[in-house]
Amino acid sequence: MAESFPPDFLWGASTAAYQIEGAANEDGRGPSIWDRFAHTPGRVLNGDTGDVACDHYHRWSEDVALMRELGIGAYRFSTAWPRIQPAGRGAVNEKGLQFYDRLVDALLEADIEPWLCLYHWDLPQGLEDRGGWRNRDVAYWYRDYAAIVARRLADRVVNWATFNEPNMVACRGYGHGDHAPGIKSREGVMAAIHTLNLGHGLAVSALREQRGDLKLGNIYNFSPREPATDRAEDLEACAMSDAIMNRAFSDPQILGRYPDPIATELAPLVQSGDLAIVRQKPDYLAFNHYARSRVRWARDTLFEFEPVAPPAGVPVTEMGWEINPDVFRRLMIDVKARYGDLPMYVLENGAAFADAVDDEDRVRDPQRVAYLRAYLGAVRDAIAAGVPVKGYFVWSLLDNFEWAFGYSRRFGIVYVDFATQKRIPKESYYFYRELARGGPLER
Ligand code: FCB
Repeated sequence: MAESFPPDFLWGASTAAYQIEGAANEDGRGPSIWDRFAHTPGRVLNGDTGDVACDHYHRWSEDVALMRELGIGAYRFSTAWPRIQPAGRGAVNEKGLQFYDRLVDALLEADIEPWLCLYHWDLPQGLEDRGGWRNRDVAYWYRDYAAIVARRLADRVVNWATFNEPNMVACRGYGHGDHAPGIKSREGVMAAIHTLNLGHGLAVSALREQRGDLKLGNIYNFSPREPATDRAEDLEACAMSDAIMNRAFSDPQILGRYPDPIATELAPLVQSGDLAIVRQKPDYLAFNHYARSRVRWARDTLFEFEPVAPPAGVPVTEMGWEINPDVFRRLMIDVKARYGDLPMYVLENGAAFADAVDDEDRVRDPQRVAYLRAYLGAVRDAIAAGVPVKGYFVWSLLDNFEWAFGYSRRFGIVYVDFATQKRIPKESYYFYRELARGGPLER
């Protein structure tokens, strides 16, 4: 086992626009599907919305100072399409671009590489009104948006990702319906998968046109699947779930084909030439990982599978997600075997636990520290096994709006008091700071 991380290992932290920015109605920002969804009663726990979130839109400079103090080499954030093009197409909102302009400059000033993700789930509502990701045209409007952001920022931002977890956009937004826009339709999922892939390919070409030496990729979400039993129907359910959740994007984008068993169903949507647009050699292989999923066959569901909770006694986070760093280690090895020897980046990993501020105004989160130590141990072991993992980004820098769970789940290494917006670095922040400074994992 290797003793420590390579000296050039990239330590980072990730966030997303809708989860932290707030300022939902300021400076010309248009409505997104998440504004609409969160403001629909019953959709988000406790009626929470991202209207204010971490107020990062106003407090970005304080947040960059926290990052500088943390000593990270990179910060991954997303640009909000509705801030930049309020209607999703046409008019560009200069104030939206200015916000990211300032943020990027402040990051560079602090010696932190900006890693920009163009889409973290906040589709302009105006485009959803035209069918959203079920409408193929949205891929082309997305490309235009990508080009607008690149024209402004590609002189300073080198690392770009097209989408964060497109599988969640398709499967939860248009399938399960527990994420915006809250639609439940099997055809919707299929159409969204293909439009998102097309959007990826088109945007990659547009970005490369802007500047040839950008580093481009897509942020997949890999959650290894396990059948609940070895009954044939559970094995089939598992294969379906694996294709939709783990391979519907990385396979066509990197290998140039849709995986079985969804390839046949997608075929009528694929026009001649599409797969050549979709397939773009990425400069890096990026993914988020939280946990594996157990699935079983379930008759009355869209794709005839449903998740099964981990067995009693298995350690889980507050999300109910299994804690199993060895699954993560094996995943990194499998990803290399499947997609080849690309520089690999873990762009999200982390855990929610019920944190609280103690009498001394401190937040002790030993469970998160233990989680990070174990998962980073898996990264180190994967590197020792020959996997080219070049960086790790913790989810998340700040406690934030955790989608359908609202503010009830805290993933940050910095605690946010949402009533006062006070930030308190947790014990895990100081743990991570030592690592970013080159300290050992075990102490
Ligand atoms: C990922 C999302 C991120 C966050 C974490 C917990 O699926 O990309 O925004 O919600 O889960």
